[in-house]
Amino acid sequence: MLMVMNRITMRHLARWTALQPYRHRTRYTYDEYKETADWLLANTRSRPRVGIICGSGLGGLADLLTDKTSFPYEKIPHFPQSTVSGHAGRLVFGELSGKQCVCMQGRFHFYEGYPINKVTFPIRVLHLMGVEALIVTNAAGGLNEQFKVGDIMFIKDHINMPGFAGQSPLCGSNEDRFGVRFPCMSDAYDKTFRRLALESALELGYKDFVREGVYCMLAGPTYETIAESRMLKLLGADAVGMSTVPEVVLARHCGMRVFGTSLITNKVVMDYSSQEKANHEEVLQTSKDRAEALQGLVTNLVGRMD
Ligand code: HPA
Repeated sequence: MLMVMNRITMRHLARWTALQPYRHRTRYTYDEYKETADWLLANTRSRPRVGIICGSGLGGLADLLTDKTSFPYEKIPHFPQSTVSGHAGRLVFGELSGKQCVCMQGRFHFYEGYPINKVTFPIRVLHLMGVEALIVTNAAGGLNEQFKVGDIMFIKDHINMPGFAGQSPLCGSNEDRFGVRFPCMSDAYDKTFRRLALESALELGYKDFVREGVYCMLAGPTYETIAESRMLKLLGADAVGMSTVPEVVLARHCGMRVFGTSLITNKVVMDYSSQEKANHEEVLQTSKDRAEALQGLVTNLVGRMD
């Protein structure tokens, strides 16, 4: 009897021990965020107020910054590293439209295997550095039948599918120094920023391919089945992707104002008779084709932010 019990205990202990590195890395302390922010503040003279997260194939935005200082993610204390092709993996500080900005050239995705707290780690670091406004860009599949490939959708709201499944970066004890226990999400995407972005779009002549809609995040990495796509459309989503929402949740928790935009890189397949298939190459190609327009839009918008 004692031997059997010992064997069970040993097995549990071995499993528990094997999980320790993973467990340790799922949560960060306030001091760890602070250490990273202080390290960056000590290594750059830039004092950004605007943070920009570049989505798949949209990292060219960072190259538009002037007077740049950049840090590969692997050089930054506690920073995770990017593993997806199309994502460079650098934090770039510099000036855009006369404003001090910091660009994440490459972001972290849940489907890469990172715990959700790692995906969102940079957000609190940016907050502690003084960033007050966050611009997030992503590539997304179009669910709304009116949308065309190459459209730019301003995000007016989101559906947090991983959140429904218990994957929120705010799960666990709340860190009051960042924000409240139960943050409001009904105003996640700043109305003023959306209005300014629309003004930018009109000035740049983008009226015909700018839309507004609801973004739904799925964990990925699979693209959606036809049944799933139909369900998302029924739920009120206009576009679907694999990023953005965890970062937005954490940014709102610590009081940042958010502007989010999706580049519609492909039309989501809704019909069993369709021969179309979602693929990463199409996503990257559309991103490349529209990169300049999106960069122009963000540059113009940053100039309008006060
Ligand atoms: N589905 C999910 N994520 C995506 C898509 C898509 O169709 N396109 C780009 N990212």
